[in-house]
Amino acid sequence: MNFIIAPSILSADFCKLSEELKKIGKFPDSWVHLDIMDGSFVPVITFGSPLVKSIRKHSSNIFDVHLMVNSPEKQIPLFASAGADYITFHIESTNSPLNLINEIKNTNLKTGVSLRPSTPVSLIENLLPDLDLLLIMSVEPGASGQTFVESTFDRIKFIKAIKERKHLNLLISVDGGINEQIAEDVIEAGADILVMGSYFFGTPFEEVENFINGLRNKNTP
Ligand code: DX5
Ligand code: ZN
Repeated sequence: MNFIIAPSILSADFCKLSEELKKIGKFPDSWVHLDIMDGSFVPVITFGSPLVKSIRKHSSNIFDVHLMVNSPEKQIPLFASAGADYITFHIESTNSPLNLINEIKNTNLKTGVSLRPSTPVSLIENLLPDLDLLLIMSVEPGASGQTFVESTFDRIKFIKAIKERKHLNLLISVDGGINEQIAEDVIEAGADILVMGSYFFGTPFEEVENFINGLRNKNTP
């Protein structure tokens, strides 16, 4: 099976981030998922661009910034100069998504949009041709360790069908509640990228490695 994993360092041990980044680096094509929460768009505050800048030099993996903030336009230049490769903002956090998409593109970064489980996918349908990434939330944004919302499967399939019909160069990423019980079904539904927080950092590394490598070697029907 073909997929990319994007471990979220929100579930890592913040006291030893460089070691945690090395674990991600054991999968050379994996991405580092960075969950930015501002205490306003979601209740929790996590970390900001200074931390991302500081850890950038300890990893050569792609940095996938997921902004769960109000006024994302203020954060884009900061994360761009901190070393982000992809910047994803929430459709619910702005009235002018096209301006934000252009702003990210102008910094030469890849552009993503995300949506909460309750936000209709029809709301972002017209944006898809302008995006590099669609981040489908499979839990309510704000915390790791939640249970995968089952209706996400239909949302992934819906987007996958549009992607194929319109020949879009779009990556479908799925974020929240992904573990070894559900990962394969998420890929089969159409996900290109699996964001993993508590499963990746809360499971013995050898077990994670065996599971991911096993899934990669599995033939698709
Ligand atoms: C939730 C974050 C997720 C989360 C994933 O708001 O966007 O990236 O950290 O963690 P798990 O895999 O534990 O749901
Ligand atoms: Zn995330």
